[in-house]
Amino acid sequence: MIKHKKQVMFVEGGTPLSGTVSSSGAKNATLPILAACILTNGSFSLTNIPNLADIHVMVSMLNELGVGATFTNNTVHINNTSQLHHTAPYHLVTAMRASFFVAGPLLAKTGHACVPLPGGCAIGTRPIDIHLDGFKKLGATIHIDHGNVSLSANTLRAANIHLAYPSVGATENILMAACLAEGTSYISNAAQEPEVTDLCYFLNKAGAKISGINSSCLTIEGVRSLKGLDYNIIPDRIEIGTLMLATLMTKGSIHIKNVVEKHLSSLITVLKQMGAAIKLKQDSLFIEYKNPLTSNNIETHPFPGFPTDMQAQMMALFSVINGTSSITETVFENRFQQAQELKRMGAEIRILKDHAIIQGIEQLSSAEVKMSDLRAGAALVNAALVAKGTSTLFNLYHLQRGYECYWEKLNALGAKIRVN
Ligand code: EPZ
Repeated sequence: MIKHKKQVMFVEGGTPLSGTVSSSGAKNATLPILAACILTNGSFSLTNIPNLADIHVMVSMLNELGVGATFTNNTVHINNTSQLHHTAPYHLVTAMRASFFVAGPLLAKTGHACVPLPGGCAIGTRPIDIHLDGFKKLGATIHIDHGNVSLSANTLRAANIHLAYPSVGATENILMAACLAEGTSYISNAAQEPEVTDLCYFLNKAGAKISGINSSCLTIEGVRSLKGLDYNIIPDRIEIGTLMLATLMTKGSIHIKNVVEKHLSSLITVLKQMGAAIKLKQDSLFIEYKNPLTSNNIETHPFPGFPTDMQAQMMALFSVINGTSSITETVFENRFQQAQELKRMGAEIRILKDHAIIQGIEQLSSAEVKMSDLRAGAALVNAALVAKGTSTLFNLYHLQRGYECYWEKLNALGAKIRVN
């Protein structure tokens, strides 16, 4: 149950995490795949869906557009058999900017899409110019007025599209539109995140003809229609990575079930360099703190580089590791918001534009801190797990957008967290 915005979290620091935990399904794979259901016909089920606020927003969006969608027990049942509308409601797009993922599928399926401009957020302005450039190349006419993007095209025609930046959302939006275009499209400099790959597998299972999957150049042979089939979502690599760092910070040892190693290779490489003991066996990961970890330097990049969604959590880890570490954030322009709050807990962090220098200290101290965004929130929870005393964390709704039962999972591993 997603509770009200005023919830507050109390974390008593000091307990090493231990035990076994299962990962949830990936939020960032689920959202585009839910949007892709607009392209399909028929009834089918999506499983391993995390129970998150953002997922419920997208499910509401589908129902508003005429796609029947119901969420029960980590499964979404889809019934796409009726006439679709092509206007996405403002209140849902502003609730979650990933709702803009419906633009490409709506345009391809109905010939029209009217979607409010998604706002920026705490981590950046989040423009959509690359999305719109791709739609234009596919033959859509675009009007932006009164805060809405209106797209229309009698028929989408295949195109060669080079992305100015390997944007995850733009790759997914353009890819979905190209599935029903006439002819064969090429998307170069495409994003290669595992969530993009999962979307391609879902679409191909529904009858799309996408090749070059897991590469920076996707080939999409347009088809006339897609028929949805049951599909299981990949595990959430960012939730798994966040739990791994919480374990190292608390000097614990845990076993995480439902893990795909190749989704985590850049993180595992960095943590092993620092001295973490990490073993993988089939779809399980074992991580243990054995000796004091050494400092390190990371730069965030599009996949397969180090993920920007793990940057804040790494800053919290570096804060309690002896020595000087550094982070360069190359993906978003304003993604160091957690630094201010970590400094309130005693962390020694200097920010120089896109560069952060972290001088590790012996122990953080508890404090009252506020979450500014999803991953910054997770970083503060992890920091509070090792701070001396009990910390109070506000704006919990950020965490609930992307982490299913995070504090319940941590308490099951020995943490002492209370939420009012
Ligand atoms: C996706 O956002 C993820 N969200 C983000 O996760 C993730 O941080 C991001 O990819 C990068 O990996 C979902 O999948 C729902 P981008 P997206 O387009 O698609 C610029 C989380 O914490 N850009 O790859 O919006 C943009 O400003 C969230 O779960 C343009 O300039 O990210 C940014 O600097 C946060 N023009 C960079 O590209 C465009 O048209 C990467 O953005 C699009 C993007």
